[in-house]
Amino acid sequence: MIRLEGVKKAFGSQQVLDDVNFHVPAGHSLVIMGPSGSGKSVILKHIIGLLQADAGRVLVMDKDVGTLDRDGLAQLRRRMGYLFQHSALINWLSVFDNLALPLRETTNMSHAEIRERVMHVLELVQMTAAEAKLPAEISGGMQKRVGLARALVTEPNIILYDEPEAGLDPEMSSSVSHTMRRLKEEHGMTSVTVTHSVSCALTVADTLAVFEHGHFLISGPPTEVLNSDLPRVREFLGAQLD
Ligand SMILES: Nc1ncnc2c1ncn2[C@@H]1O[C@H](COP(=O)(O)OP(=O)(O)OP(=O)(O)O)[C@@H](O)[C@H]1O
Ligand SMILES: [Mg+2]
Repeated sequence: MIRLEGVKKAFGSQQVLDDVNFHVPAGHSLVIMGPSGSGKSVILKHIIGLLQADAGRVLVMDKDVGTLDRDGLAQLRRRMGYLFQHSALINWLSVFDNLALPLRETTNMSHAEIRERVMHVLELVQMTAAEAKLPAEISGGMQKRVGLARALVTEPNIILYDEPEAGLDPEMSSSVSHTMRRLKEEHGMTSVTVTHSVSCALTVADTLAVFEHGHFLISGPPTEVLNSDLPRVREFLGAQLD
């Protein structure tokens, strides 16, 4: 479903991705952990085509993202949800309108159908009470949950989560992790998640990978990775558990 082959990306003299390879089959959940600034968000941006690889290929649903034209990319993006690291809501639109916008723009759904879909995803993240509020009128954690609802509203086949737990209290963070897991189990969602939370990783990962210095140090079933005896992996994950 998602495949990266020998992907390289540099910004100036900084080689951020240096031979990145992975495959996420349909219905599978890959979780990426790694130090701040290592390039995790850059990986997600390659999958959604916001950044272009210098070398290698990014394949999503059998399409080579790097060679798609604008229409092809737009079509592919409609099947992918993206929870941005910073919720990226449009600040002059209400919560309801932020979620309705992609449906108004890309579907022929009626007002009633849109209303039903929007309220359904708001319910998933326990935010129905905020439908009429502007983003500035709700807390950062609430904006994050609305961002998640927006990523889900078009019923994508793939979802990319960039730090879904950031800015949430532990209870809400755990509730979001469980929503992510339910989406996978009940809807067969394919996903790539970037997180700094070991408990989020343990809740949602089929495969856990640790990324540093341009490539993956290790990747495998979460319990195996957490019990790895590679010194750098132990050191990094140990610090996350403190
Ligand atoms: N568009 C860009 N132009 C130039 N440099 C960039 C760009 N995007 C990212 N970078 C650089 O690439 C590196 C990796 O950034 P990235 O946002 O992927 O880090 P990250 O692993 O997601 O970190 P964090 O955990 O803090 O979110 C950083 O040094 C960043 O400054
Ligand atoms: Mg990031």
